[in-house]
Amino acid sequence: MEVLRVTGGRRLVGEVSLAGAKNSVLKLMAATLLAPGTSTITNVPDILDVEIMAELMRRLGCDVHHDRDGGLVRIDVPEQPDHRADYDLVRRMRASICVLGPLVTRVRAADVALPGGDNIGSRGLDMHVDGLRRMGADVTSEHGYLLAQASDRLQGAHTWLDFPSVGATETILMAAVLAQGETVIDNAAREPEIVDICQMLLAMGACIEGVGTSTLTIEGVERLDPVEHATVPDRIVAGTWAVAAAMTQGDVFIRGGHADHLAMPLEKLVTAGASIDEEPGGFRVRMDGRPQAVDIVTLPYPGFPTDLQPQFIAMNAIAEGAALVTENLFEARFRFVQELARLGADVRTDGHHALVRGRARLSAAPVEATDIRAGAGLVLAGLVAEGETTVYGVSHIDRGYAGFIPKLQGLGAGIVRMDQPD
Ligand code: EPU
Repeated sequence: MEVLRVTGGRRLVGEVSLAGAKNSVLKLMAATLLAPGTSTITNVPDILDVEIMAELMRRLGCDVHHDRDGGLVRIDVPEQPDHRADYDLVRRMRASICVLGPLVTRVRAADVALPGGDNIGSRGLDMHVDGLRRMGADVTSEHGYLLAQASDRLQGAHTWLDFPSVGATETILMAAVLAQGETVIDNAAREPEIVDICQMLLAMGACIEGVGTSTLTIEGVERLDPVEHATVPDRIVAGTWAVAAAMTQGDVFIRGGHADHLAMPLEKLVTAGASIDEEPGGFRVRMDGRPQAVDIVTLPYPGFPTDLQPQFIAMNAIAEGAALVTENLFEARFRFVQELARLGADVRTDGHHALVRGRARLSAAPVEATDIRAGAGLVLAGLVAEGETTVYGVSHIDRGYAGFIPKLQGLGAGIVRMDQPD
């Protein structure tokens, strides 16, 4: 077991490069199942979740070559993939559910272990299931598995999502590209990662209209071809670097960053006092002085992303003034606040609201990351806390941030990875 030792008080200055988005690449890998033959995905981040996804694809009968240094995954998909995603992998990575849509449409069966806490019809997967049922799949749940079957080719259907769920949009989209006839997804998610998947599917021969809007219209085709596709850069990692630069009163150029994918968070940073400059190949974030507190409300894209909420709470914890943070997607995300309080942050939560009163200083302490973004938020807080903060639960950070520690070191941060003390 390893920990991070973070020494607070240093400005971050320099340049970082972005790799592809975790929340895109996993789905792109699943989408390769839609076409027999060899597909290649580039700009792949070197993170744990890609390893887990590669293992899942192998168990489905694919031959997977993962070049970690080259940022490339090559997947050879057989004519008849297997259709079972076992619990041991799904429990390590909830995103494994993304093989559901491709499998049910391509091999007409999918047995996917249910991620903990979810059940058919309950919050979590109901929209995925409803979409597939509308297309003619028979979906049940037994012994902890979601079992989807189709006796024939899926039929295009009109679906309305109650909420623009990223995962449900992807499941229905990937099922629809090989279905018979037209599928319409209304109130679809339109995150840049969804656009990325649409672009890959289009290159494979799919017919999709309305890409990037909240109505996707898909005309199913009989067969798709393998493809080579570059993953969209990770906007959440870019946003994390942007907050890190602002909090440490630094100056960081984020190479590969698309400022237009981060319009709302960057606008919030400007309100906090940062300056953002788009430059060829990326954007720069600079900050002089202590940030001003900024209110945020998380919402589906183009709203403020929930995946940057902990990082902004960390910034508000040292800002001038008080901020109200409203979390509309994942209430459990506020669990990280208790850890931040160990560093002296003044945060009160009530339901899906958190009131953050900025403090002039935080003081180092041992803290534990409970998920990827909580981990990032705690590291950022450690960068500005007085003393040495020890962050436990590093594996969470490794799931989503490629080369995080060397990149931080390259910007001048005081951070090292070390064996967990006894
Ligand atoms: N929901 C339902 N029913 C469904 C689907 C979703 O009730 O059928 C609810 C969920 O319970 C949740 C909300 O809708 O409260 C949002 O869920 P959504 O489906 O949009 O999210 P997701 O696909 O499960 C992805 C990312 C998350 C990111 C969210 C929102 C991946 C692998 N995960 O999750 O990323 O927070 O979209 O943008 O793409 C992370 O990277 O740290 C992370 C958690």
